[in-house]
Amino acid sequence: MRLLVTGGAGFIGSNYIRYILSAHPDYQILNLDKLTYAGNPENLKDIETIPNYTFVRGDICDRESVRGLEFDAIINFAAESHVDRSILDSSPFLRTNIMGTHNLLETARERDCIFLHVSTDEVYGSTENGFFTEDSPLRPNSPYAASKASSDMLVRAYVETYKIRAMITRCSNNYGPYQFPEKLIPLVIINALDKKPIPVYGDGMNVRDWIYVEDHCRAVDAVLHKGAAGEVYNIGSRNERPNIEVIRLLLGKVAERLDLNEKDLTGLISFVKDREGHDRRYAIDPLKIERQIGWGPLMSFEEGISKTVDWYISNKQWWERIISGEYMRYYDAQYRERLKK
Ligand code: NAD
Ligand code: TYD
Repeated sequence: MRLLVTGGAGFIGSNYIRYILSAHPDYQILNLDKLTYAGNPENLKDIETIPNYTFVRGDICDRESVRGLEFDAIINFAAESHVDRSILDSSPFLRTNIMGTHNLLETARERDCIFLHVSTDEVYGSTENGFFTEDSPLRPNSPYAASKASSDMLVRAYVETYKIRAMITRCSNNYGPYQFPEKLIPLVIINALDKKPIPVYGDGMNVRDWIYVEDHCRAVDAVLHKGAAGEVYNIGSRNERPNIEVIRLLLGKVAERLDLNEKDLTGLISFVKDREGHDRRYAIDPLKIERQIGWGPLMSFEEGISKTVDWYISNKQWWERIISGEYMRYYDAQYRERLKK
């Protein structure tokens, strides 16, 4: 199978490519990524020379970017993904998440290929109790969530109107290796290692439903192979936690691993002004994917958090190069090397 993976240099996309190359070593992977601030080719350094893996720098909003590329399915991870950035400036979110998805839908329509759209539980909005199912109404609250909901609506419209073979997955909050340090979990680990304040929005009691990234990658692969066209699948681990509990667990692990005083680390916690429109609770019901596809999470939260803390401790250079901005130069340096050959 030949897969066009968009956004493969980001957090989940790079984990997905690594997973696919080990689960299906015969697959051809084309990674189409614009390399925005969130795209980091160093995430794929260990596999960039594998013969059936090819990186193409390109924008999903640009029709030309897929010209000449051959593939059987598109897995669309490419997006602007950070809620705080969408509050500061939503324009790139509308462009990439809506117009970019539209462009890929047109490509899928022209080529009659499978289109798997990677979406989020944030499209359902916030709920104080109960769980969102695939039939829950879409009530996005942040500009990010609204742009993802818009793209989901377009996918639905293309299925209904043009009968394209598309599926949507809506996953809960991911964590694990290679997550960009603006997101809660890597931010807490790195700030703890650097002894910097750990900003907690509001009262710290907002609830997120956390899933280990590899479990998400396996779920996307399962939907690609066993999912039905036109269907939506929620992906979640039934693992709701208030933010402050996650933060305390992380600080406890960092203290344990580095033999530090836990109290010194919890002293870094700093309650700050709440995020505008901060969703109180996300919680999804993953029963459909469990029953119909036979997928279930393998990683417990305790173990996943331990692995993640260990990864950030062992990969200091990776995140230091992000914080210094050095990582942005990696692609250009590689590219220049290739031109010389
Ligand atoms: P990320 O921000 O780490 O990576 C996004 C990638 O997309 C980057 O490599 C970036 O360079 C690329 N990109 C951005 N705009 C592009 C464009 N116009 N053309 C080509 N490439 C472009 O994001 P992530 O956390 O890996 O999320 C991946 C997908 O999963 C997104 O669609 C997101 O909405 C969805 N999702 C994320 C989570 C989560 O917890 N992180 C949860 C559910 C769903
Ligand atoms: P985040 O990782 O940005 O994911 P999302 O907003 O998509 O759920 O944030 C997870 C939760 O952590 C969310 O409730 C906001 C909160 N948060 C903080 O309290 N402090 C921070 O510095 C960040 C980045 C997030």
